Amino acid sequence: MNVNLEALLYLVAAVAFIIGLKRLGSPRTARNGNMISGGGMALAIVVTLIDNEVSWAVLVAGAVVGSLIGAVLAMRVKMTAMPQMVAAFNGFGGLASALVVGAEFLRGDGEAIFPVEVILTMILSVFIGAVTFTGSMIAYAKLQGLLSGSPITYPGQKVANAALFAGILGFGVWTQATQQSLPFVIVAVISLILGVAMVIPIGGADMPVVIALLNSLSGMAAAATGFVIDNSALVIAGALVGASGIILSALMCEAMNRSLTNVLFGAFGAVSEQSGPTVHGDVRSTTADDVAIALAYANRVVVVPGYGLAVAQAQHALREVASILERRGVEVRYGIHPVAGRMPGHMNVLLAEADVPYDYLLDLDQTNAMLPRTDVVLVLGANDVVNPAARDDSGSPIYGMPILEVDHARTVVVVKRSLSPGFAGIDNPLFYKDGTMMLFADAKKALNDLVAALDLV
Ligand code: TAP
Repeated sequence: MNVNLEALLYLVAAVAFIIGLKRLGSPRTARNGNMISGGGMALAIVVTLIDNEVSWAVLVAGAVVGSLIGAVLAMRVKMTAMPQMVAAFNGFGGLASALVVGAEFLRGDGEAIFPVEVILTMILSVFIGAVTFTGSMIAYAKLQGLLSGSPITYPGQKVANAALFAGILGFGVWTQATQQSLPFVIVAVISLILGVAMVIPIGGADMPVVIALLNSLSGMAAAATGFVIDNSALVIAGALVGASGIILSALMCEAMNRSLTNVLFGAFGAVSEQSGPTVHGDVRSTTADDVAIALAYANRVVVVPGYGLAVAQAQHALREVASILERRGVEVRYGIHPVAGRMPGHMNVLLAEADVPYDYLLDLDQTNAMLPRTDVVLVLGANDVVNPAARDDSGSPIYGMPILEVDHARTVVVVKRSLSPGFAGIDNPLFYKDGTMMLFADAKKALNDLVAALDLV
C-alpha cells in the first residue's frame, strides 16, 4: 500500500479512537463511542494486514477463535465479575505486546542489528508486557477467589521486589550491550516474576485500582511495541490506553482519599479484614411494611446503591419499587458515589441495565446538595461510601474520603444483611444514629418485599 495512504488511514483510525474515547465519557453516548472506536480498530487492523505480508489463513483462524471466545465470555460474564474479565483482557494485551517484541528481537538472532533506541524500546516493552501479564493474572485470581483476597506479605518483600527490579535493569543493560537472546529472555522471566511479586501484597478490594493501572501499563507496552514494529496506530492506541488508565487510577484513588503509593505498597485490608465489626450502641431494626409506608408518603426519595446491590442483582427489583413510587408522585433520584461498588461506573452500568433514566443519576456533589431536602434515603448494600466516620472521625482509616452525607436526610433506611463492615473493614456509626432504620435482608429480597408491601399502602 502507498505509504501516504497508509499513514492517512492510520490517522483516520486514531481520530476514531479519540472521538470514541470522548463519547465514552457519558452513558448517553457511550454505546456509540464504543462502535466508533471499534470501527477505528477494525480499519487499523485491515490496513496493517494489507500492508504486511502475512499468512491470512493463520490470522483469520486466530481472529475467529479469539472473537468467539471473547463473545461467549462477554455474554456470559456477570456484572459482578466484570473487573476480573477486564484484568484478564489487560493481561493478554501485555502478553501480546511482549510476544510481538520477543519475535522481532529473535529475528536479530544474536546479531547486533537494532539501533540503540529500538533495542531499548524492546527491553521496555517486554518488561512492561510481562509484568502486566502476570500481575493481571494474579489480580484475576484474587477477584475470582482462586487466591486469597487478603494481602500476602512476608518480611523483606520490598527488598526482594527491589532486587528483582535491579536484576531486570542489569540484564537489560547486558541485552542492550550485546543484543544476545539469553539476557533478553532473562529480562522477560524476571519481569514475569516481578508481576506476581508486585500484586500479591495488594488486597483483593484494591484490585480495581490495580487493574486500571495494569490497563495503563498494557497500553504503554503496546505503544512501545508500536515504535519497535513502526506501527503508528499501535503507538497512538497504546498511548491513549496508557494515559486513560493512569487518569482512571488517579481518580479512583482521589475518591478513596488514598495515594497510589498507599494502594500499591500499603497492603490495605491486611489488618481490617481480620478485625471484624466493632458494634457500639443500639440499632433500630425495621420491616418492609414500615419502610413501604415511609417511602409511599415521602415527597423525595434518594436511593444510594452500593456493592451489595450488585451482588444481590437487585437492580430490576429496585426499578420496580421506583416505578411504583413514581406513579404515586414521589420523586426518586439515585446518589452515585464514584467508588460505590467494585469498579468505576459499576452503579451506573447496573442501573442502566434496569432502564433507570440517566438524568436521575446524581453525582456526589449533586446528591449531597439534595440530601438535606430529602425525606427518605434508601441505602441499598452500600456501606463505606455513606460512613460518616470518613467526615467526623480523624482516627478513622477512611478519614477524608468524600462520602454521600445521607445522615443529613430526614430518615435513612439501610438495607443490608447484617452489621458486617464493607470493603474498608470498619464499623459504620450511621447504623446507630437516631434517624437510621436497618432493614436486615438481602437487597433483592428486601426490594421484592417492598413491592408487595407498597401494593397494600
Ligand atoms: P461496601 O462498603 O463494600 O459495603 C457493601 C455492603 O453490602 C456490605 O457492608 C454488605 O453488608 C452489603 N451486602 C453484601 N451483600 C449483600 C446483599 N446480598 N444484600 C444486601 N447487602 C449486601 O460497598 P460500597 O458502599 O459500595 O463501597 C465500595 C467500597 O469499595 C469502598 O470502600 C471503595 O473504596 C471500595 N473500592 C471501590 C472501587 C470502585 S472503583 N468502585 C475500587 C476500589 C475499592 P452485609 O454483609 O451486612 O450484607
